[in-house]
Amino acid sequence: MAKETNELSSNIDFTPSVLGTKSYWDSTYDRELKTYKDIGDVGEIWFGEDRQNRVVDWIEQSSVQMSDPVIDLGCGNGIILTEMRRLGFTDLTGVDYSQGAIDLAVQIANAEGFPDIKYQVVDILSDINTGCPTCLSRQYKVCIDKGTYDAICLMPDGADKGRQFYKRNVKSLLQNDGLLVITSCNWTKDQLVLFFETDFELFDEIKTPSFQFGGKTGNTVTSLIFKRK
Ligand SMILES: C[S@@+](CC[C@H](N)C(=O)[O-])C[C@H]1O[C@@H](n2cnc3c(N)ncnc32)[C@H](O)[C@@H]1O
Repeated sequence: MAKETNELSSNIDFTPSVLGTKSYWDSTYDRELKTYKDIGDVGEIWFGEDRQNRVVDWIEQSSVQMSDPVIDLGCGNGIILTEMRRLGFTDLTGVDYSQGAIDLAVQIANAEGFPDIKYQVVDILSDINTGCPTCLSRQYKVCIDKGTYDAICLMPDGADKGRQFYKRNVKSLLQNDGLLVITSCNWTKDQLVLFFETDFELFDEIKTPSFQFGGKTGNTVTSLIFKRK
């Protein structure tokens, strides 16, 4: 997905990609919405079902209560929220800047019998202090991000600024002891810690099978939990 130039820097130049553009996601979700209507296929689960289950399991086994507010940033088809709703979480919100993603997520949630999951078209890099009420106007116990920070880092224009806006907004969105549960395939654990440690402390890591290559051990996908400082 990206080209790294320095393993330990938190400020790596990624090759910009269409994955960092709204037009890419709009056309992706227009296609996935049509496929869902045609054959009921919910579309892509980023990083696979196993990773998604590990994230949901971690939240379920943590001190997070079923009634705590949870938001999924860049929710796509919203499947992770549907799974959490099935487990009994009751205050669930998904935001995405692509109208097609939100239409798809709403249709899936309704079909699953969970019309109470709140969905809204919102750019998570927008100024959340404008006084204009959106789902970003309240605070949450948990912010979930699976692949969205990765997409922001690939923006052809203003990725560095976007990353800073992202960090600022996530901090504002979280309650004092709130948690960011972030899954990335572009950044290592060290790189994520280096970037987020100004405002967040590393709380836990969701362990996953690792691979060995050339005497080094690594993971292709990293899932970390940060606590708001
Ligand atoms: C890699 S996909 C992951 C989708 C979903 N989280 C999942 O795990 O299946 C990245 C998502 O982030 C959304 N996205 C990217 N930048 C965004 C932004 N600035 N505001 C809101 N959503 C954004 C895209 O529309 C897309 O749905």
